[in-house]
Amino acid sequence: MALTIESRTKLNDGISMPIFGIGVWRMEPGRQTREAVSTALELGYIHIDAASMYKNEEDVGDAVKQSGLHREKIFITTKVYSQEVGYDSTLEACERSLQKLKLSYIDLYLIHKPVKGFRQNTWKALEKLKHEGICRSIGVSNFSPRHLQEIFEICEFSPVVNQIEMNPFLAQKTIADYCREKNIHITGFCPLARTEKSTDPTLVDIADECGKSWAQVMIRWGLQKQITTIPKSVNAQRIRENSEVFNFELNEDQMARLDGLDQGFRLRPDPIELP
Ligand SMILES: NC(=O)c1ccc[n+]([C@@H]2O[C@H](COP(=O)([O-])OP(=O)(O)OC[C@H]3O[C@@H](n4cnc5c(N)ncnc54)[C@H](OP(=O)(O)O)[C@@H]3O)[C@@H](O)[C@H]2O)c1
Repeated sequence: MALTIESRTKLNDGISMPIFGIGVWRMEPGRQTREAVSTALELGYIHIDAASMYKNEEDVGDAVKQSGLHREKIFITTKVYSQEVGYDSTLEACERSLQKLKLSYIDLYLIHKPVKGFRQNTWKALEKLKHEGICRSIGVSNFSPRHLQEIFEICEFSPVVNQIEMNPFLAQKTIADYCREKNIHITGFCPLARTEKSTDPTLVDIADECGKSWAQVMIRWGLQKQITTIPKSVNAQRIRENSEVFNFELNEDQMARLDGLDQGFRLRPDPIELP
């Protein structure tokens, strides 16, 4: 079936998540975040990737409220940050996020980073939040297989998602293979490699072949790989451009050439090297 801006993937807890959204990291708190999120919602985006660390949950909440969209229509992810981990402090962090977002529940709550010594008790707090219906789905971010194994030692619910850096220039094969084996869905962050690869000749050639921009090709690659893709932009024209990826398809040859670009190009720390 053709992908659309509302296409969803079924997570391992039975809940479905939209495979395309907007990320809000490095959007300035206040007007910039409010306007970007409002623009995205007007254009039909239904998934917002937030985090307490981004310091703009209040603005995300304002934009969601202002949109007048039914709560059930929008999928909101947020994350417990490294300074907030631990059982009680995670429960408190979640309460703060709910208040700022002005929500009664979070669709997907993630452990932002695998902090040594705090992975298991933080996961137990997330499980409590899931039991209470405060967080519908729970998952992790920046976890390597070793960190995930620690969760599997104690978990009642498996993480549904591992959010990791991923784009054609960074395949993260070890983590991706492990997650696939464990039925953990991948959300790819830095899907545009923060524009660092916009002049790559192969990427530019494929964009020309498709009559699309390099950014649209990178986003479409993620979607066709069944990776949830959350490009960030504060610019209305680029927010629109990033959403216009459902009216073309990369063919097998183009996908293979994009796969061939993997060069371990990394903007954020390698999860495998995190303690
Ligand atoms: N879990 C984690 O640890 C983690 C880490 C990093 C990111 N994330 C999430 O992933 C999201 C996306 O990653 P990211 O923000 O780091 O990087 P990204 O989406 O790869 O790139 C964002 C950059 O690309 C520019 N841009 C966006 N659309 C463009 C287009 N069509 N043409 C040209 N330039 C364009 C943006 O500038 P303008 O805004 O000026 O358009 C911004 O500078 C984040 O917002 C966050 O939600 C999570």
